[in-house]
Amino acid sequence: MMKNSTVYDCSIIELDKHHHAKGNITVVENGVSVPFCTKRVYYLYDVPGGESRGGHAHKDLYQLIVAASGSFSVTLDDGKVKRTFMLNRPYQALMVVPGIWRTLDDFSSGSVCLVLASEKYSEDDYIRNYNDFITFKTI
Ligand code: TYD
Repeated sequence: MMKNSTVYDCSIIELDKHHHAKGNITVVENGVSVPFCTKRVYYLYDVPGGESRGGHAHKDLYQLIVAASGSFSVTLDDGKVKRTFMLNRPYQALMVVPGIWRTLDDFSSGSVCLVLASEKYSEDDYIRNYNDFITFKTI
């Protein structure tokens, strides 16, 4: 668990990109471009305009968040400092370490939020109440 993690432990990673006249490819490979092994991939899509996602923290999970299409913003909060990242490039990934509250907003129409996660889905890993999150960070 990373109770002491801060928003400054989270950063944009430039992914491998291959430009080609017929279109581009970005590759994410365990142990090469990602600081963890991916056990799960999921993606958000058809998010209605004005809708907000996230609104929770994870105790042990590392994630890479990519705007595979379109754009959205990710606000990270370590209980003391907030940082907002606008994601709008398929070859850029935001690495989010454990112990960070995150909120995703401003989804453009047709956007796809691709997430690579270090662990399988576990509801026990979520902190879904903000006051519980602050307690988790301070005790
Ligand atoms: P959640 O992570 O709360 O969504 P978001 O962060 O995008 O707002 O997930 C929404 C629901 O989807 C959750 O109640 C359970 C389900 N879910 C799974 O079953 N497996 C998964 O890997 C994920 C990410 C979510």
